[in-house]
Amino acid sequence: MKSSFNMVAKTQFGLEEVLAEELRNLGAEEVEAHNRAVSFRGDLETMYKANLCLRTALKVLIPIQKFRAKNEQQLYDGIKKINWAEYLDKEGRLVIHTSLKSEFFNHSQYVSLKTKDAIVDQFREKFGVRPSVDLTHPDLSIDIHINRDEVSVSLDSSAESLHRRGYRTDSTLAPINEVTAAGMILLTGWKGEGNYYDPMCGSGTLLIEAAMIAKNMPPNLNRAQFGFERWNNYQPELFDMVRKEAVANMRESKANIVGSDKTFKAIEITRENCTRAGVDEDVKVSNKRFEESKGAEGGGIMIINPPYGERLPIEEIGAFYKMMGDQMKKEFEGYDVWIISSNIEALKKVGLAPSKKIPLYNGALECRFHKFEIYKGTRDKKKLAEQNPE
Ligand SMILES: C[S@@+](CC[C@H](N)C(=O)[O-])C[C@H]1O[C@@H](n2cnc3c(N)ncnc32)[C@H](O)[C@@H]1O
Repeated sequence: MKSSFNMVAKTQFGLEEVLAEELRNLGAEEVEAHNRAVSFRGDLETMYKANLCLRTALKVLIPIQKFRAKNEQQLYDGIKKINWAEYLDKEGRLVIHTSLKSEFFNHSQYVSLKTKDAIVDQFREKFGVRPSVDLTHPDLSIDIHINRDEVSVSLDSSAESLHRRGYRTDSTLAPINEVTAAGMILLTGWKGEGNYYDPMCGSGTLLIEAAMIAKNMPPNLNRAQFGFERWNNYQPELFDMVRKEAVANMRESKANIVGSDKTFKAIEITRENCTRAGVDEDVKVSNKRFEESKGAEGGGIMIINPPYGERLPIEEIGAFYKMMGDQMKKEFEGYDVWIISSNIEALKKVGLAPSKKIPLYNGALECRFHKFEIYKGTRDKKKLAEQNPE
């Protein structure tokens, strides 16, 4: 691999600019935002840093080839032209992930299969032996993206998605994806200082991501492995240096990060997750309802991922959102409150005019991330909004 090469970090819709900013801060060059992705240039050190430190990237890909294909034979031929022995041992293990936006190909699994056939055939013809497919512990993870007839072949330096930070166990609390959570916090412009409150913390994802931002802690410090660690060109000393440097750049949190939830189970899970993430001393949690919560002296920021209640009648879920609005104006003067929800009708029942509305996705759900500024006089404005609904 050349000393400086092109990379693409994949992300979620709406987080492209945040990711581009993160990459610039890491020292990446030629940073350019695209749809759900940011392209950039750098060397191996940049690639290691990107995997370890980016909060809003899902994957860091290294494009190695682009060609056109309108049918499976052209795909097979194009893949076979790449010298795969450069990237994979002849008896190595590989996995292929495919995403499609094409009228010429409609089954991603079939494209993966054809790609695998071309690679395996190349090895067998050259060496008489072949690599095998391993879905869970591959030496090389290959990413195929086909846009119309344009096939992009990339090596996936992350392998498992970077949102899997390694601090969360499975939970039934509808947790938000770690990348979405970090992206939401960065979108608010929060600098990791002052009062931060999540009154419906669930399993604590937003709190943990906030604490990691406050400590300048690399989000993937606790992750077991990255794809690049199994590559032929892996430089363990360089990665060790990148890790040590990132750890040395960590700081004491200057934030007061507080969470609560109405269920005790959520609080228990949040505590366990905080411990696993190494932020248990930076996050305080308690078991209470939002209806009993109060803002801290001096104001701050509150980010809420409430129940969306898509299947509930609007009267019922609307009353919950109205309660949130009432509580915000009553007890959270001086706060910037951000609420994410897929339920646009319910969001209107908050009864305050948002000063920002950002489209985002929570998984497959299209959401809005609304900012409400609560200052003296918000109460009167709320009354007005209630008298004149949108
Ligand atoms: C969508 S989940 C939040 C998920 C969380 N962001 C995470 O990543 O795990 C909504 C949470 O709101 C809590 N909740 C619902 N009504 C509440 C209320 N009135 N006061 C406090 N918490 C409440 C639920 O217990 C649940 O944990």
